[in-house]
Amino acid sequence: MKSTILTGIKPTGQVHLGNYIGAIKPALELAKMQTHQHAYFVADYHSLTKIHHAEELRHLSYGIAATWLALGLDPEKVIFYRQSDVPEVFELNWILACFASKGLMNRAHAYKAIVDQNRQLDKDIDSGVNMGIFTYPILMAADILMFQTDIVPVGKDQVQHVEIARDIADSFNRTYGDTFKLPEYKIQEETAVLPGLDGRKMSKSYNNTIPLFVEPKKLQKLINKIKTDSTPPEEPKDPNQSVLFSIYKEFATPLEIEKMREQYVSGISWGEAKKQLFQVMNRFLEEPREKYNELMASPEKLDEILKRGVEKARAVSKPFLKEIKCKLGMNV
Ligand code: ADP
Ligand code: TRP
Repeated sequence: MKSTILTGIKPTGQVHLGNYIGAIKPALELAKMQTHQHAYFVADYHSLTKIHHAEELRHLSYGIAATWLALGLDPEKVIFYRQSDVPEVFELNWILACFASKGLMNRAHAYKAIVDQNRQLDKDIDSGVNMGIFTYPILMAADILMFQTDIVPVGKDQVQHVEIARDIADSFNRTYGDTFKLPEYKIQEETAVLPGLDGRKMSKSYNNTIPLFVEPKKLQKLINKIKTDSTPPEEPKDPNQSVLFSIYKEFATPLEIEKMREQYVSGISWGEAKKQLFQVMNRFLEEPREKYNELMASPEKLDEILKRGVEKARAVSKPFLKEIKCKLGMNV
């Protein structure tokens, strides 16, 4: 049996360039490995811990699905689905909850961060924490273990969640015998952390993002907003200190990067650097943007693709859940 690579993205905001460089681009690279089976999904139930607005959740979920497809994910070659369409994951979620110690959840970073903040503000420690946030890692373990995943490509912030999935799997296996594969994480060490408009890490929490599929005019406007210093146009500039250059590198060819480096050293105006950045970015984004807009304009197409994907997913999850329930002593 081929080993499985699985990853999910939760629809909590507009996808931005940082998400693309840090998460989507490396995951699409992995999707080319024909030696493995791949599962990609929209983690909409995970978003529910934050997004409590139907229209917003629907729109953001379609947005994640359309983004994957617009950037070249081939739904025929991978299992591509919406988490909430696979009810077996939620049955497994409960089962795994009974093998996850509360202490393990207390130590999960996301929950701990809220508790620490509440303490600092002298609030009740659990203020603003719903049980979805508290048990978030268990649902993530169900996502991973349901598909006998070998490798989970994630950002650094998600490593602990994959370790928790291993712990829970191990605890189950020790009671009922070998059932779940123990997953490994794969972090994208080599990928850059893309800076945002203000020079800090691009993040929706900082409101400094360039959304991936904005229209060209808006893209140019946002690029013009990128913070630069007051070095006069003709003076040499250090490309390694420039946000513009960091972003440029991600979209230009090696030859263009070399040329731009020389232009920095011999003196280029920020205005010109911004113009050239727009050109390479827009060149890359043009086609996916069009595809994204097309898909977002016909959600029924997305539904159709996701429906076919969920059939493939449930062809795995249904028999496996049956096997698990049998082990637990439930008649199925
Ligand atoms: P945000 O910081 O905007 O809330 P998320 O936490 O939802 O983004 O991140 C989703 C994925 O995108 C993660 O795998 C994360 O590592 C990656 N990512 C987010 N911002 C950046 C960035 N500026 N540079 C590189 N990768 C990023
Ligand atoms: N928690 C992940 C994030 O915030 C999203 C996610 C949910 C996920 N389930 C997963 C990632 C399973 C990998 C595997 O980015």
